[in-house]
Formats: sequence, structure tokens, C-alpha cells
Amino acid sequence: MADSDTKVVAITINKGGVGKTQITRSVGVAAAGAGLAVVILDMDTQQNSTSWRKRRPKEMVLPLVQFTTENDLPETICRLKVGGCDLVLIDTPPGRNTEAPAAVEAADLVLIPCTSETECLEGLPRTARLCRTLGKRGIVVPNFVHPSGKAEDAQIRGVAEGNKLELSPMSLHEFQVHRDGSFHGKTAQELEPNGKASKEINALWEWLSNELHLGTSARVHKRA
Ligand SMILES: Nc1ncnc2c1ncn2[C@@H]1O[C@H](COP(=O)(O)OP(=O)(O)O)[C@@H](O)[C@H]1O
Ligand SMILES: [Mg+2]
Repeated sequence: MADSDTKVVAITINKGGVGKTQITRSVGVAAAGAGLAVVILDMDTQQNSTSWRKRRPKEMVLPLVQFTTENDLPETICRLKVGGCDLVLIDTPPGRNTEAPAAVEAADLVLIPCTSETECLEGLPRTARLCRTLGKRGIVVPNFVHPSGKAEDAQIRGVAEGNKLELSPMSLHEFQVHRDGSFHGKTAQELEPNGKASKEINALWEWLSNELHLGTSARVHKRA
């Protein structure tokens, strides 16, 4: 029988290089660290999440990453639900494509990483429309904010509100440790557990798990 508790989150925006894969990996590691069964579905043919998984040290088996096409997505999610997966994160490609709409359609909630770059802000209306058309919550996560960039943050938040999108309460600032983490097949929170980037990701995860009603203690108890 399908486990209706399984939550599905799509991470999408048409602009590339703005943090879709980074946020997918970081949230995936945070969820696995909280004891949840989490799987990343990589829908980008560049397979950056999949390559990161291969770079991970052997003992770091979680989170699992699986490449998936839009044709396979419904069945893949169905199997994961039956298998008792708690959280499915879908990493999507940039540009005009068929994967993002399929991912948003399958999602309970959509995370939209966004930077203050003009091209990124100009791309927001399209993703907002996609969420609205499919009746999904679209939540903007400001990313790559300069550590002293209050104006940048305000600009992203203003454009998101103008597009009637929700906003995550916290913004992710630009920290080199995200890139270093990727190089080592890790995340910022694994490389520098007490660093600022790690604290931001942990706060993002805490907020997201509440939004998704992913009460970890109940689930861990259920599994035990
Ligand atoms: N907040 C951040 N600070 C510094 N580097 C970041 C941050 N977010 C993402 N990156 C890095 O920027 C690059 C592009 O991010 P990525 O997640 O691959 O974007 P996308 O999936 O949207 O194309 C990667 O090298 C990633 O490690
Ligand atoms: Mg990517």
C-alpha cells in the first residue's frame, strides 16, 4: 500500500547556475541526517547530482540519487512511496524543458532558488506561472546573497512578492564552502559543521521539515 506520508519537493527555476543542485544536495543530506529515508531524483541530463553522489566518500551512502526522465517520474515516485520513502527531492534542469513541469506536477511543494542577477529575476514569472497553473506552492529561496548584501536580498524578495510567490524566511549567502563541498562529494554542513553556511542550511531544513509536517521523531519511531 502506498505511504501517503511521502513528501515530494521539486527544486526548479529556468536559470542555470543559481543553486538548484546545491540546495537539493544540502537539503538531502540534512534530511538523511535527521533519520529520514530521502531520495534525490536527478532529472537534469548534465547529472550534476548523480556525479556528486559518485564523488561521495564510500561510507557516505546517503542520500541515494537516481537519474529519472519525465516518462519514468510517476512510476518512480509511486515505487518510492510504496517503499516507505519519507522525502523525494527532484533536481531539475535549466532552460525551457519538459522535466520542470513534470517535477512541479508531482510535487507537494516547489523550492525556487533565486539570485539577484537580472536574468534570474526575469525568469521568476515563468516559474511562478508554472506553480500557479499546477496549483502548487512555489517558495523562493534567495541564494548567492553577498554576506553584506541586504539590498540584494530585498531585491529578490521584492520581485518574488511581485510574482505572488512565497518566500523562505532565510536567505542563503555566498560561501565558498558550498563549492568546496561539491568538489569532495559533500555538503557545506559536512565540510564545516559549525560554519555559517552550515547554520543557514540547517535553518532552511528545520523550516522546510515543518512546512512539510515531516515530524522526524514520529517517523524514526515508526521505522524502529
Ligand atoms: N550559496 C552559494 N555560495 C557559493 N557557491 C554556491 C552557492 N550555491 C551554489 N553554489 C555553487 O554555484 C555553482 C552552481 O550551483 P548549482 O547548484 O550547480 O546551480 P544549478 O543547479 O541551478 O545550475 C556550483 O558550483 C555550486 O556549488
Ligand atoms: Mg543543477
